[in-house]
Amino acid sequence: MAHIPVLLKPTIEYLNLQAGEVFVDGTINAGGHTIALCPLLGSTGLVVGIDADSEAVKKAEHNLQTCPCPVKVVKNNFRYFDQILDQLKVKKIDAVLLDLGFSSDQLESSGRGFSFLRDEPLSMTLANDDTLGQLVTAKDAVNSWSETSLADIIYGFGEEHFSRRIAKAIVDYRTAKEIITTGQLVTIIEGAVPIWYRRRKIHPATKTFQALRIAVNDELGALQAVLPQIWGHLNSGGRLAVISFHSLEARLVKDWLKTKVVAGEGKLLTKKAIKPDRTEELANPRSRSAQLRVIKKL
Ligand SMILES: C[S@@+](CC[C@H](N)C(=O)[O-])C[C@H]1O[C@@H](n2cnc3c(N)ncnc32)[C@H](O)[C@@H]1O
Repeated sequence: MAHIPVLLKPTIEYLNLQAGEVFVDGTINAGGHTIALCPLLGSTGLVVGIDADSEAVKKAEHNLQTCPCPVKVVKNNFRYFDQILDQLKVKKIDAVLLDLGFSSDQLESSGRGFSFLRDEPLSMTLANDDTLGQLVTAKDAVNSWSETSLADIIYGFGEEHFSRRIAKAIVDYRTAKEIITTGQLVTIIEGAVPIWYRRRKIHPATKTFQALRIAVNDELGALQAVLPQIWGHLNSGGRLAVISFHSLEARLVKDWLKTKVVAGEGKLLTKKAIKPDRTEELANPRSRSAQLRVIKKL
């Protein structure tokens, strides 16, 4: 399924890009948001795009050829924000967008085992190759992490009520056979939870898959690392927009933005997080959990 940019209209409105500004899309993917944003920068602006996935980088470079200003797309983890800008010799920036997580195409058809609906190798890595030095895959995690670590991660990052049962089932299973596919993991999870839990609308593997993905990619660590680096590069008057998709991300962003407001360094432009309206939710069910928060540096 092609990725549809979420909360596009409010993102354009709150970022309020002006001709000649420097805009960083920290999660550019195929450039869905940036295609709509870059005309506002005119020919004197600059777009810097970042993505850890080289397929995404290729797509963005192709799709953004029509932007009126120069576009530089870098394959890297946004947690190295300072280093990325240094290498491009970009010092000050005016606006940043982080649209967190993964695109619909990555989740559904990257073959990396993000979806419990497909039987694929259990990888779940952010980068589609190992050039960023990512050493841990979901396969490594389920086959080598202790039962306690697995339970803690499934509970902490998935908010999964049956984390202990699932972790025990994973460890029991792997004593006989290595877990290498999403299909095996789904079967293990289904066997570990009560029947009523299997019959609910939400798939019983949803939370465990989310937890493993967050853990393997250190998604919260990367987010925690990037926010102060972005802040350090933003001009006063600069805007930072973050779109989050689960409660852990949302909490981290909300709390960090609050520290900037309390310190008198920033002004929240979104008093309450912006959520998709009914029309967007129906057109793009993936947008349902999205929340947009925007701060302006004072
Ligand atoms: C939801 S998609 C962005 C979609 C894009 N805004 C659009 O509408 O086309 C998130 C993208 O961020 C990338 N990503 C997630 N975490 C990252 C990180 N820590 N460093 C670099 N890229 C990351 C993913 O590979 C993915 O391509």
